[in-house]
Amino acid sequence: MALKAYIFHILTLTFLVLPIVSSANFSIPAIFNFGDSNSDTGGLAAGIAFPIGQPNGQTYFLKPSGRFCDGRLIIDFLAVNALDLSFLNPYLDSIGIPNFQNGCNFATGGSTILPANAASASPFSFGIQVAQFVRFKTRVLELLVKDKKLQEFIPSQESFRQALYMFDVGQNDLDGAFYSKSEDEVLALIPIILTEFEAGAKKLYNEGARNLWIHNTGPLGCLPRIIAQFGKDSSKLDQFGCVTSHNNAANQFNMQLHDLCTKFRVLPGANVTYVDIFSIKLNLISNYSLYGFKQPLAACCGYGGLPLNFDNRIACGQTKILNGSSVTAIPCNNTAEYVNWDGNHYTEAANEYISSHVLTGNYSDPPLLVNAQYHIESKLFDPKTI
Ligand SMILES: *[C@@H]1O[C@H](CO)[C@@H](O)[C@H](O)[C@H]1NC(C)=O
Ligand SMILES: *[C@@H]1O[C@H](CO)[C@@H](O)[C@H](O)[C@H]1NC(C)=O
Ligand SMILES: *[C@@H]1O[C@H](CO)[C@@H](O)[C@H](O)[C@H]1NC(C)=O
Ligand SMILES: *[C@@H]1O[C@H](CO)[C@@H](O)[C@H](O)[C@H]1NC(C)=O
Ligand SMILES: *[C@@H]1O[C@H](CO)[C@@H](O)[C@H](O)[C@H]1NC(C)=O
Ligand SMILES: *[C@@H]1O[C@H](CO)[C@@H](O)[C@H](O)[C@H]1NC(C)=O
Repeated sequence: MALKAYIFHILTLTFLVLPIVSSANFSIPAIFNFGDSNSDTGGLAAGIAFPIGQPNGQTYFLKPSGRFCDGRLIIDFLAVNALDLSFLNPYLDSIGIPNFQNGCNFATGGSTILPANAASASPFSFGIQVAQFVRFKTRVLELLVKDKKLQEFIPSQESFRQALYMFDVGQNDLDGAFYSKSEDEVLALIPIILTEFEAGAKKLYNEGARNLWIHNTGPLGCLPRIIAQFGKDSSKLDQFGCVTSHNNAANQFNMQLHDLCTKFRVLPGANVTYVDIFSIKLNLISNYSLYGFKQPLAACCGYGGLPLNFDNRIACGQTKILNGSSVTAIPCNNTAEYVNWDGNHYTEAANEYISSHVLTGNYSDPPLLVNAQYHIESKLFDPKTI
């Protein structure tokens, strides 16, 4: 049974004033989410018919669900298990009866903050996602006036104000840049990327968004694909086996994103929560055995065997002729022992771990305390049940 979480915010007015602890039951009627594959609940599949076939979805949905994962994503755990909302429908869903009453997901796999170009995996970069939101909101407000029956399927006007506006984007900007740029050049690009992010978030604020929930970017250098490509020389790896340059860039990005969050708080009425996903993921990867995992860096679904079980010629689920023989990138038998699913994305087990740590509030600025009533279904810290 999903249980509602009651989130208590500590509002810090300025650096000079002592924090004012204000607790309120922060009930959230809707989530509007912007991002990439880390929080794509079917957008790329809907938008460009990107094939996300089996074994994606096998652990939870029992069929592909448009997610790059064997099961649920962090946003699924936060929306459904913590906030008692439904799974977020992608904005681009055109078939079925997509219900947007609890919000809408604009995230698509491969999205960047900077505008997409011909080589981009997704045309729906952050600025487009924001523009889609503006159109969505305009249409909803028109329909609410025209047809009251539609209220079951679309958010109320009040929901837009009280909603959580969630962001998890930027990873692909850094990732893509490293294929053609030196580390210094990538670092120099970060302020440009964040200027674009600021413009989009500001546009949402001007549209009435007040509760912003911003995930920082994860340890890019710990993804099997990045290690396979950039970590062939072990001097490029850090003590966890992750690519140092990529994690440096992620850290730089996060520091500047954190500064930007501080800047946003000056906007009247803005509630900005910055969530340190990087630290949660790195802690999981470095201390994996404490949390019941056995493989911190190898892809569960891939080809090539340990240590990375990743081959960039053959994606999870694909069959190809390699070196004269037919091979398939099949999933491991024990997904919950793996942190990584397909070389680029985390397993449901890892996402569940990460979500539960987000909800402790220990990784948020400002810290949020979630009512102890919150829990997610499986026994998170008991390896026997994962
Ligand atoms: C910000 O959050 C506090 C609760 O922590 C709430 O009282 C306040 O209404 C929120 N502000 C807006 C503009 O939603
Ligand atoms: C929030 O709601 C819970 C459950 O309904 C209640 O026990 C708690 O007192 C409420 N807290 C505040 C600050 O209103
Ligand atoms: C791993 O766990 C230890 C002990 O709890 C902790 O001190 C360390 O910071 C953790 N590693 C990371 C990268 O968080
Ligand atoms: C292809 O097969 C040959 C002979 O078995 C082997 O030496 C070579 O490493 C293989 N190449 C790849 C890319 O697997
Ligand atoms: C999973 O288990 C089956 C049966 O024991 C085995 O044939 C198969 O190779 C295993 N798959 C992987 C990826 O290890
Ligand atoms: C969160 O931080 C508090 C205070 O440092 C600590 O007591 C608690 O164990 C932490 N919770 C988790 C789940 O790490």
